[in-house]
Amino acid sequence: YLVNIDPNSASKGTYEFYMLKEIDEQPSVMRRLSKEYFNDDADVKVDANIVQSVAQSDRIYILAAGTSYHAGLVGKNIIEKYTDIPVEVGIASEFGYHFPKLSKKPFFIFLSQSGETADSRVVLKQVNQLGLPSLTITNVAGSTLSREATYTMLLKAGPEIAVASTKAYTAQVAVQAILAKAVGEYLKIAAAIDFDLKRQLALVAEGMQEIVDGKEKINSLAKKYLATTRNAFYIGRGVDYAVALEGALKLKEVSYIQTEGFAAAELKHGTIALIEKGVPVVTLINDPATADLTRGNIQEVESRGANVITIVAKKFAKATDDIILPDVDYYLSPLVTVVPAQLLAYYASKNKGLDVDKPRNLAKSVTVE
Ligand code: G6P
Repeated sequence: YLVNIDPNSASKGTYEFYMLKEIDEQPSVMRRLSKEYFNDDADVKVDANIVQSVAQSDRIYILAAGTSYHAGLVGKNIIEKYTDIPVEVGIASEFGYHFPKLSKKPFFIFLSQSGETADSRVVLKQVNQLGLPSLTITNVAGSTLSREATYTMLLKAGPEIAVASTKAYTAQVAVQAILAKAVGEYLKIAAAIDFDLKRQLALVAEGMQEIVDGKEKINSLAKKYLATTRNAFYIGRGVDYAVALEGALKLKEVSYIQTEGFAAAELKHGTIALIEKGVPVVTLINDPATADLTRGNIQEVESRGANVITIVAKKFAKATDDIILPDVDYYLSPLVTVVPAQLLAYYASKNKGLDVDKPRNLAKSVTVE
């Protein structure tokens, strides 16, 4: 089975590594999704069969692996906010052999860049045997998970070559938001009707551009804090917790620095024992409900010698913060917050002279369970 790759979009051009090229492409992926899924009047366009099928469900189950699982954790927040339908997110390899008790009218969403992940296929096979409706959100038209699910939505991110997923993650978050907007409007949920997603995606694209244009600042932070450390942490609350998990995965997979993502306040319940002088703690702050509390968590780790790197939305930022994010809708903030995390991982790896695009022991698409 062949994947059609447009040789122009798959060329590295002047880039040393695909990972940086793919990080830089994210603003244009956001704009492409906006064109694809909205009309000129800013009305969202999603296949009516998908919208109705999701809207009729009493619970959405999102299944995925790796980075796509992390995109699902963000998607849960967005979908619950704009559709009022409860969402569960599962690691496909666990879910496949330990199905939870399902709700009466479940709808399944499979998130997969490649559309080929064996762990997700195990779940989808059972979903099909039960005769339940499903949607695959994937970057690859005609992929196995796309063919086997009831419906497909495409990520339109262009070929992603680097093993570490970047633009597929942000595209997955954006497509889940698009789906949430369409379903929420259909269900007449006020939050969805009022949500000007087309405009927000334009702001996100601008915000991403601002961050990639300032990448040298992020490179200097990577040089200062990540050059020799053996371990690191990411902390955040709310959607920032989901991004903390992704930031940690990105950093560990390409730089081999052992990194854990934590709910900011949970660190003190044990893991803070690992904080000592010089341990980097990347702290994410976008959540209005907890911004001050997370500042308190920064003090806890700083007083134990941690090197804190702060990534903070402009509206909560202090002059001393390291990376200040352009303000966007809180639920969409992962789309911009993740970009400095991707860049920190990229530079940590490149500055060590590692093969950024092909980290050891990893494959782009994993077709074994
Ligand atoms: C592999 C890749 C990861 C990816 C995961 C899920 O482990 O190395 O980057 O997130 O598979 O892949 P998928 O194609 O299903 O999104």
